Amino acid sequence: MACNFSQSKTKENLMRAFAGESQARNRYTIAAEKAEKSGMYTVADIFLYTADQERAHAERFYELLKEMSGQTIQIDGTYPVDQQETLAELLRAAEHNEKEEYEDVYKNFGDTAKEEGFLEVASAFYQIAQIEHIHEIRFARLAEMLENNTYYASEEVSTWMCTNCGYIHEGKQAPKVCPVCRHEQGYFLPDEFIPYKG
Ligand SMILES: [Fe+2]
Ligand SMILES: [Fe+2]
Repeated sequence: MACNFSQSKTKENLMRAFAGESQARNRYTIAAEKAEKSGMYTVADIFLYTADQERAHAERFYELLKEMSGQTIQIDGTYPVDQQETLAELLRAAEHNEKEEYEDVYKNFGDTAKEEGFLEVASAFYQIAQIEHIHEIRFARLAEMLENNTYYASEEVSTWMCTNCGYIHEGKQAPKVCPVCRHEQGYFLPDEFIPYKG
């Protein structure tokens, strides 16, 4: 059933999503600072990389609200307070929030948009839900590696890349110090996260 956008549930859901993405971006930026303080620079990079994607999601939802320009939209919602002590706990909290967006929130928002006849908005919700699923998997994997102490060590021979100079190390653990640029272990990224590997 098509309906007027300004009367729709969808415009509220878009604003909820904009609020949620904006907060996720800040939570990940704050988590990145924490990772940096503990010397895990590549974990910080992954938080910041994800934060940028949340900003892109927020921007897309905001664009879809253009018709409401100059007006305000009242919403309610629940938003998490994640100030866990350890990085692994912060990653688990992030995983949980991403899972909720993927499995529940954005699917429901997409269904409502479809019912209300806003198909472009529906597809944005469904597509972004899929991205949140990728975020969920990535955060879960990182949390697991920190919990098992396998971020810098592996049972099998593996590779790590120094994100400062690009040096690739092969072995069972990341070097304590990069033999090329002398940056500390915190700059090393495990094989499965190395970008542009070629
Ligand atoms: Fe997002
Ligand atoms: Fe996300």
